[in-house]
Amino acid sequence: MPLSAAHVATSRPERYAKQLISHMGHKADAEHTGVGSGTITFRSGTCSLLSAQGELVLIAAAADLDSLTGVQDVITRHLLRFATQEEIRVDWCEADSGDAIQIVPPAVEDYLRAHCTPADDLLTELAETTREATGRAAGMQVSAAEGALLEMLVRLSGARRAIEVGVFTGYSALCIARALPSDGYLLACDVSSEWTAIARPYWRRAGVDDRIDLRIGPALDTLRALPETPDFDFAFVDADKAGYPAYYEEIVPRLVPGGLLVLDNVFLGGRVLDPAFQGDDHRAMRRVNDALAHDERLDVVMLPVRDGVTLARKR
Ligand SMILES: C[S@@+](CC[C@H](N)C(=O)[O-])C[C@H]1O[C@@H](n2cnc3c(N)ncnc32)[C@H](O)[C@@H]1O
Repeated sequence: MPLSAAHVATSRPERYAKQLISHMGHKADAEHTGVGSGTITFRSGTCSLLSAQGELVLIAAAADLDSLTGVQDVITRHLLRFATQEEIRVDWCEADSGDAIQIVPPAVEDYLRAHCTPADDLLTELAETTREATGRAAGMQVSAAEGALLEMLVRLSGARRAIEVGVFTGYSALCIARALPSDGYLLACDVSSEWTAIARPYWRRAGVDDRIDLRIGPALDTLRALPETPDFDFAFVDADKAGYPAYYEEIVPRLVPGGLLVLDNVFLGGRVLDPAFQGDDHRAMRRVNDALAHDERLDVVMLPVRDGVTLARKR
């Protein structure tokens, strides 16, 4: 599906987004997904709108190039009409196929992997064991570079108490736990006893077993059972994507000021950018990405690491 984006420099991104969504709502399906963001679905294609500091980001998608041009034209015409108070330019970038957005080109991925401290023997063995034991599901494991990033973030932040939502075979939990101090605590949530059983011997061998409190059950229940007090310094979310908005809402009040929330897979293979994808996961991830960007409790940075990693620091 062809995709194209335009970054429109303006001092009024939210106002234009609101005007476009309200106006187009008379002729097409248009919905607000957050402050200054939303989706307009025409018969010929869709356009997502996102407001950022000093710019309105438009992402158009359609089944073919002609339809894409139609979507671009109608959005551009209306936007120029609404902009009576300032001169704006709407320059659409060249259409992308939209099938698989390559966030980091493979050559760059190889190069950066070769220039990070490599995973040690224990992590490498855990990755191999996971591949042998779980087959295709092993693709869910964080990459070595992401594991190293988590470990560095925990060390840099000086975190003592952490939460993980989505343990699988324990690779990211191991990275987080070993970066905590010896009296540190990691509350690790997962629904699978089978997958997390693979983790235990590795945590033991790393000497961090006693720091990890593994809770088997829906993570939302585990989080909701915690006192609603700011008691955690770090949280990593990497579980069912439809659950992300609820995890985020439960975790933020439980973070101390300065605490860090890290979300994995925030691009969903690039599909968050393509409004043609309207599954529960896609909608939930868009909702959480939009909400985080406008959350006044947080400072947020989205990184193009693997499938997208968001860092949100509580103010
Ligand atoms: C992407 S994997 C996590 C990968 C892990 N972070 C790692 O580094 O290997 C997602 C995990 O979320 C778990 N999960 C899915 N739905 C869940 C839920 N509602 N509550 C808790 N865990 C869940 C799955 O069992 C799976 O182990």
